[in-house]
Amino acid sequence: MSSSREVVIHESAELLAAATGNRLLAKLVEIQATGREPRIVLTGGGSGIGLLTALNASPDRDTVDWQRVEVFWGDERFVPRDDAERNEKQAREALLDHVGLDPAKVHAMAASDGEFGEDVDRAAAAYAAVVGDSQTFDVVMLGMGPEGHVASIFPGSAAVHDDGVVVAVRDCPKPPPTRISLTLPAIRRATEVWIITGGEGKAEAVAQALSDTPEAALPAAGAFGEARTLFLLDRGSATRLPSGIAVVDG
Ligand code: 6PG
Repeated sequence: MSSSREVVIHESAELLAAATGNRLLAKLVEIQATGREPRIVLTGGGSGIGLLTALNASPDRDTVDWQRVEVFWGDERFVPRDDAERNEKQAREALLDHVGLDPAKVHAMAASDGEFGEDVDRAAAAYAAVVGDSQTFDVVMLGMGPEGHVASIFPGSAAVHDDGVVVAVRDCPKPPPTRISLTLPAIRRATEVWIITGGEGKAEAVAQALSDTPEAALPAAGAFGEARTLFLLDRGSATRLPSGIAVVDG
């Protein structure tokens, strides 16, 4: 059973990034105050990296004990470690290299010049072993494509039906074509899923995701958290919301 979806609208893409960065900070502080180490899942793309950049600029950034945060990725572009397209590299530049994380708690997916070479299946299997069969996440952050992809799970692809933990993805419509992704069942191990997206080009996919479209046709519809599913939007991506959806202004 999916948790009900909540929609929060911010006036602009900049405010969406800043507010989402603050939301993540607050969540990390809240979890650490209970004595637990938060486990978060990052994503790639403009929205996912934008919130990390905004968080890095926040005067409250170091209210978090970054040594006690565990970091995973929802998906990775299977390119060499130093390729500018790599989600890990972008996340490091935006935030991770600027805070005092414990390297043992930062779980990047393999690069195509890493220990598995170009064998993306082995790289995906290795990440499945890192995540394990029962690990849960506090927050999974996801961007969304205009056709409703999340992480590297694209509409109508084999990955959308995969019931493992991590899947190797080939021939992605969004370059680069080879990727590694958490599956939808793994994403659903999250307490909270945040779908973060902006721009009018995403408005139709947002509308479909909130209308219970089948996940095979629109993977974002299958991305929900056990306790909470948030759609964090800017005005442009919120122009086609279905009627009856409760909205909070951010
Ligand atoms: C990636 C992603 C992907 C991304 C969406 C949204 O590595 O490309 O993880 O799922 O989050 O395509 O990207 P934008 O925010 O740039 O539109």
